[in-house]
Amino acid sequence: MDFKISASILSADFARLGADVDEVLSAGADFVHFDVMDNHYVPNLTIGPLVCKALRDYGVTAPIDVHLMVQPVDRIVPDFAAAGATYITFHPEGSGHVDRTLGLIRDHGCRPGLVFNPATPLTHLEYVLDKVDMILLMSVNPGFGGQAFIPSCLRKLAEVKRIIQASGRDIRLEVDGGVKADNIGEIASAGADTFVIGSGIFGTPDYAETIAEMRRTLGTV
Ligand code: DX5
Ligand code: ZN
Repeated sequence: MDFKISASILSADFARLGADVDEVLSAGADFVHFDVMDNHYVPNLTIGPLVCKALRDYGVTAPIDVHLMVQPVDRIVPDFAAAGATYITFHPEGSGHVDRTLGLIRDHGCRPGLVFNPATPLTHLEYVLDKVDMILLMSVNPGFGGQAFIPSCLRKLAEVKRIIQASGRDIRLEVDGGVKADNIGEIASAGADTFVIGSGIFGTPDYAETIAEMRRTLGTV
């Protein structure tokens, strides 16, 4: 299985963001997970397209996995595409027209994805499965790093994995929130192939050792 680790820079050192991102990528992370919060859809405020562009200008070439926790969604999509986003995922609750937003992201040259909160059912997937490149399941309620993994996500992962397999499409199944070295194995066994990890990497003293430990566990799945 082609497992990917997407390092959530929400837990990085924003005063030296470029260097910290370089460090986590050389330590073995595959993607940069970029959490965008608007103090409206979620009760926190973070970073926007300017910071995404700053990372590209700094020299970051890894895929940038933009997770939009904003409402509305469409206005900001072209700005993130221009800023160098690779994936752009959004919460269906944040968009009045989910199909249109997925098309907008694709038309701007990025890879679209839908994000489901812990209590959000999967119904929004039914008619747009052919239009997503990523499905992101939240295993915490969005807004903050460092929260505990909500176990019902394991069952949901297994369900989405079945849906993806039945579709025959190449769709990444990503999980976000409370992923650590000690639970990544069971999360992978449930079906996830892409792991957003913030405090589980940035909160540890040696990023490379933490990621290596996670990869050792993933190697046994
Ligand atoms: C939460 C964000 C996450 C967050 C995960 O709303 O979407 O990406 O950074 O943080 P950890 O890995 O610390 O749970
Ligand atoms: Zn996120």
